[in-house]
Amino acid sequence: MIREIVVYPDKRLKQQSRHVTQFDEELHTLLDDMNETMIAKNGIGLAAIQVGVPLRALLINLPDEEGVQHPENLIEVINPVIVDRRGSTIYTEGCLSVPEYYDDVERAEWVKVEFQDRHGEKQTVETDGLLAIAFQHEMDHLDGHLFIEKLSFLKRKKFEKEWKKKLKELREKKR
Ligand code: CO
Repeated sequence: MIREIVVYPDKRLKQQSRHVTQFDEELHTLLDDMNETMIAKNGIGLAAIQVGVPLRALLINLPDEEGVQHPENLIEVINPVIVDRRGSTIYTEGCLSVPEYYDDVERAEWVKVEFQDRHGEKQTVETDGLLAIAFQHEMDHLDGHLFIEKLSFLKRKKFEKEWKKKLKELREKKR
C-alpha cells in the first residue's frame, strides 16, 4: 500500500525515531509499504518517519545506469549506526519530504554502517559513492534532520522563501 509522504515543514520530520525491537509482521508490512511508496514516488531512499512512523528503519534502492530500480538491489536498514567514516564529498541531494528541491550537501565520502535486516540479523556495509551518501541522508531522518539544515544561511533563507510559494501551489493542487 502506498502511504502518504510527510512533507516539510511538518513537525514529525523533527522527531527522534525509536529503536526497532519487534521484527514482526507489522515491521514487514511497514517496510513493504515504504518500498511501494518509494518506488511510486521515484525516490532512491526513504525513512519510516517520512511515512509518519517514528521507527529507526529506512530503505535504499539505487537505480542502475538506465535509471531502473531493481527489487534485488533494495537494502532494508533497521537500527543503523555509522561506526566509521572517512573523507568528504559533495553531492546534489534531494528528498521526497522536500519535493523538487535539490542542493549541494557535504558528507563523508566513505562510511561503515552496522544495522539489522528485517529479521533482526546483524549486517555490516562498507561503502562510498552514492550509497554512502544515501545512508547518511536517510540516517539523518532518524534523528529528525533534513538535508536543507546543511545549507548555508543565505541558501536556507532563499529556500524558505521559495518553499512558501511552493507549499501554496501544492495546497492548490490538492483542492
Ligand atoms: Co530525505
